Amino acid sequence: MHLITLKPWSETDILETVEESLKIKNHPEKYRHAVGGKSLCLLFQKTSTRTRCAGEVGITQLGGHAHYLDWRTTNFALADLGDEMRVLSAYVDIILARFLKHAELVEAAAAATVPVINGCCDRYHPTQALGDLMTIQEHLGRLEGVKLCFIGVHNNVCNSLIAAGMKVGVEVSVVAPEVNPAAVDKELWEEASRKGLYKPIDTDTIGIERSLEQVTAESDIVYTDTWVDMEFFTDPAFEKERKRRLEKMMPYQLNAKLLQDHACRVMHCLPAHHGYEISGELVNDERSIIFDQSENRLHSMKAICLKLLEES
Ligand code: CP
Ligand code: NVA
Repeated sequence: MHLITLKPWSETDILETVEESLKIKNHPEKYRHAVGGKSLCLLFQKTSTRTRCAGEVGITQLGGHAHYLDWRTTNFALADLGDEMRVLSAYVDIILARFLKHAELVEAAAAATVPVINGCCDRYHPTQALGDLMTIQEHLGRLEGVKLCFIGVHNNVCNSLIAAGMKVGVEVSVVAPEVNPAAVDKELWEEASRKGLYKPIDTDTIGIERSLEQVTAESDIVYTDTWVDMEFFTDPAFEKERKRRLEKMMPYQLNAKLLQDHACRVMHCLPAHHGYEISGELVNDERSIIFDQSENRLHSMKAICLKLLEES
C-alpha cells in the first residue's frame, strides 16, 4: 500500500490514522519500539522543514532508522528511475518521497517494492491533510460536519484537504482566483462537489469582499497557504508570475480585520509568508492553531508509517 494521494483511501483508513495519531501524541512512550529497527528513506527533490523532520524524528522515535537522500547528491538524476527505486527498495522498508512532478512520483511508486509516501508533489500533499484532520479532531472534537474554507491559490494542499475531507464529511469551500496548473484535478473536484463537500466560491460573480465574508462567517476553520509553491519562490524564470500573483492575491490576505467578528480557528500548513497570504498578527492570534498543526505532523507521520508498514 502506498500513500500517493488520498483518493484510494477509505473513510476507515483515514479515521483510523487520525485516531492512531492522537493516541501516539498522548502516549508516545508506548510506541518506542513499534517498528523494530525498520528503515525509512527520505528521497527529496525539494526543500522541507516539517515533512523532513516529521519523517526523520518520527521513525527514530518509533525505534527505526531514517536515511535522508537529497536527490541531487544521488545517481537518481542520471539513471533509470525504475532501476534506482528497485535498488532503494532493497535497502529500506518504506520511502517518503518529495518529488517536483506528480507523474514522476507515480512512476517511482510503481517501481518500488516497499510502500511509498508522497511527501508533497505539485498536485497533492496527503500527509499534510492527514495531520490537519488530526488537528481539527483535536481542537473541535469532530470531523463530520466541520466547515473549512481555503482562501488563496488552489494548490496541492487544497486538493488533499478536499480529498481527505470528502471521505470524512468535512466540507471544503474554496475562494481561489488562481489555480496552480499542476493542481487541476476535475475528477476529484467533481466527486467532492457531487457529495456536497467541495464548494468553489466564484469571486467574479459576487466580488472579493462578499465572497470572503460569506465563507469566513460560515466556517469553523479558515485555512491558507503560500501563493507561490516552494520550487518557484526563488526561481528567476517565475519572477514575473510571482509579482503578478502577489498583486492579484493581496485582497485575499487572511488578517485580523477580515476575521474580526469570527470565532473560527486559523490554519496554515507553513512555511508562511507574513504580510502576504497571512498577516504575522494572525499567525500568532489566539484563534491560530498553526503551531499545533505543525507539531501534529510528527505524530501523524508516525501513524502513517505504522499503517503502511503493517499493511505491506
Ligand atoms: N507543511 C510542510 O510540508 O512543510 P515543509 O515544506 O517544511 O515540509
Ligand atoms: N503548497 C506549498 C506548501 C506545501 C507545504 C508548496 O508546495 O510549496
